[in-house]
Amino acid sequence: MVLTSSKEDPSFPVPSRLLGADAEVKDDNPKGYPRPTPHITSTDEYLTLWKESITQPDVFWSRMAKDLLSWSKPFTQTLAGTLDEGNVRWFADGELNACYNCVDRHALEDPSRVALIYEPDEPNATQRITYGELLADVCRLANVLTIDYGLRRGDTVAIYLPMIPAAVIAMLACARIGCPHTVIFAGFSAGSVADRIHDARSRVLITSNEGRRAGKVIPLKAIADTALESCPTVEHVLVYERSPVPDPLPAGVMTAGRDEFWSTALPRHRPYCPPVPMSAEDPLFLLYTSGSTGLPKGVLHTTGGYLLGAASTVKYVFDVHPGDRFGCTADVGWITGHTYIVYGPLSLGIATTLLESVPTYPTPARYWQLVEEAKLTHFYTAPTAIRSLIRLGEHWPFNSDLSSLRVLGSVGEPINPEAWYWYNDKVGREQCAIVDTYWQTETGSIIISPLPGVTHTKPGSATLPLWGIDVAVLDPQTGAELQGRDVTGVLAIRQPWPSMARSVWKDHARYLSTYLKPYPSYYFTGDGVSRDRDGYYWIRGRVDDVINVSGHRLSTSEIEAALNQHDHVAESAAVGTSDPVTGQCIFAFVTLKDDDVTEQPMAIEVKDLALKVRTMIGPFATPKCILIVQELPKTRSGKIVRRVLRKIVDGEADSLGDLSTVANPEIVPELIKVVGVSD
Ligand code: WT7
Repeated sequence: MVLTSSKEDPSFPVPSRLLGADAEVKDDNPKGYPRPTPHITSTDEYLTLWKESITQPDVFWSRMAKDLLSWSKPFTQTLAGTLDEGNVRWFADGELNACYNCVDRHALEDPSRVALIYEPDEPNATQRITYGELLADVCRLANVLTIDYGLRRGDTVAIYLPMIPAAVIAMLACARIGCPHTVIFAGFSAGSVADRIHDARSRVLITSNEGRRAGKVIPLKAIADTALESCPTVEHVLVYERSPVPDPLPAGVMTAGRDEFWSTALPRHRPYCPPVPMSAEDPLFLLYTSGSTGLPKGVLHTTGGYLLGAASTVKYVFDVHPGDRFGCTADVGWITGHTYIVYGPLSLGIATTLLESVPTYPTPARYWQLVEEAKLTHFYTAPTAIRSLIRLGEHWPFNSDLSSLRVLGSVGEPINPEAWYWYNDKVGREQCAIVDTYWQTETGSIIISPLPGVTHTKPGSATLPLWGIDVAVLDPQTGAELQGRDVTGVLAIRQPWPSMARSVWKDHARYLSTYLKPYPSYYFTGDGVSRDRDGYYWIRGRVDDVINVSGHRLSTSEIEAALNQHDHVAESAAVGTSDPVTGQCIFAFVTLKDDDVTEQPMAIEVKDLALKVRTMIGPFATPKCILIVQELPKTRSGKIVRRVLRKIVDGEADSLGDLSTVANPEIVPELIKVVGVSD
């Protein structure tokens, strides 16, 4: 391990402590773990700061940005641009490097401090990686990318890796050299990988020979090879050896001149490479996410504002203090992994966890044994995971020592009261704060959430807005603001905040039309919301054609496009309906091409159709039910009326509403019957 000294790179200041080093440690915890005094101690303090952040965003955010981040060139501007014009920028004349902020400054303070707690799929094999070790590997990889592969600032790098330290190293190495990364979730199939690499025009792909999940092997390199057949932009593929590679290597596994192993490439280089000073508004990454129409879009986040959102929310929403150990069960392929596994915890210099496995492997105690073993202070997961564990019994969390935990987070969908209480009672043992955190890929970091120990919580409500978030509830039809309490409408935001997405990769028009044009002067979230009599927010779910399955965001059109790829499919319509474990699940209706409608084709067809979705998108997108029907409800102009299908699968066929726009209402009774039989 080789460490740098600040002399080697004078432009980057060494930080003072970031986390309120003088935090007083109270000894009121019966189990003996320190319980630091929270950063925010009262509702009044929260309200005063929130008001300042809305009325004087410049003052508020400039103080936060100086306090939490290290700048190689200080900014003199704060916010510029408006939501109306879609040209928002923060701290635009300042310069910083996200990797320096997440690694170097902590390695300089204490190289032996733990940065990553890696919990491999195989149990009882936890590994710890220090900030010093992380810096060395990030630098080696950065050198491979620039010196060997010729990457220049602004080139994009695709990362298709499982939940292993190499994924974090790869993201940070890209950030270090100014190359926006696009992480592709390792559950995606070749078609989705290809779409993303193609759209991002990546010159380099970083992947691994295999992935492991619950003992199963996922052939990532083989999937990547299939994807790369249609990705001519990729010049180099770096392959991390997640598992031993056969010796001799069978022919065709590595493409000569294009592919090389991680263990060959990294040792060629010195473990230091200077971080490139980036403008605060330079892209840090793009992350593809589903919208209501078309192909997934590359949501673009920039360096300064995004990192500030990540750091400030980890500090205040989770009330993180020096020495804490953060455990977030998301995958780095999603925004939660970007912000709350990588950039947030590391920017504050605490330890973060990479969990490669699933909550039930080898037993449903996996999470809880990890909490005990790693003495996690924070645990952040999704309601769907909690619900799946509730079914398996409370003895699983009961048998582990969970007393190190202070804050439990929930994300991805509204948390139902049953899951909330189980989390609070069985995991938190009534000793932890629960934070139900609402946000999106596009918001970059949490925007509505309680503050631990400060906000009085109501199970199912994400409660109150965070700093800088100026929430408006709009009438969905007129766009008028619904004033006062006890109102329901769509959730919009009135003012720019630092970590908001700045654009859609190479399609700014789509950014404007999706987020900023639907309700001029507001950012539109796509979610329905109620504000109750106490001013608390309750998220009511998507108002567009986005389906949320186990926290995975999918659009009806993506699923339909996959189904329509089947030779026998004429048309399809996918809708979301509620599911007791996954939150929502997918219900698909399919019509077959005329000559295919024989007496009994159903059983075989349905399996093939499901397979189509699995191979085109990924196993997580597989519809729970696919029904072959004679006809779909349509308007006179031929548009499928999904609203009617949604009502039928929700069991609300008695309140279908106005059918006057449906050109073929006679098919509705048939659809009700078919859905009824499938239950
Ligand atoms: C959508 C964003 C960034 C979080 C992970 C998913 C839903 C997210 C909550 C919550 C109710 C929530 C919304 C949002 N959502 N958190 N605490 N309560 N709904 O990110 O894939 O961009 O999905 O997830 O519908 O719009 P994403």
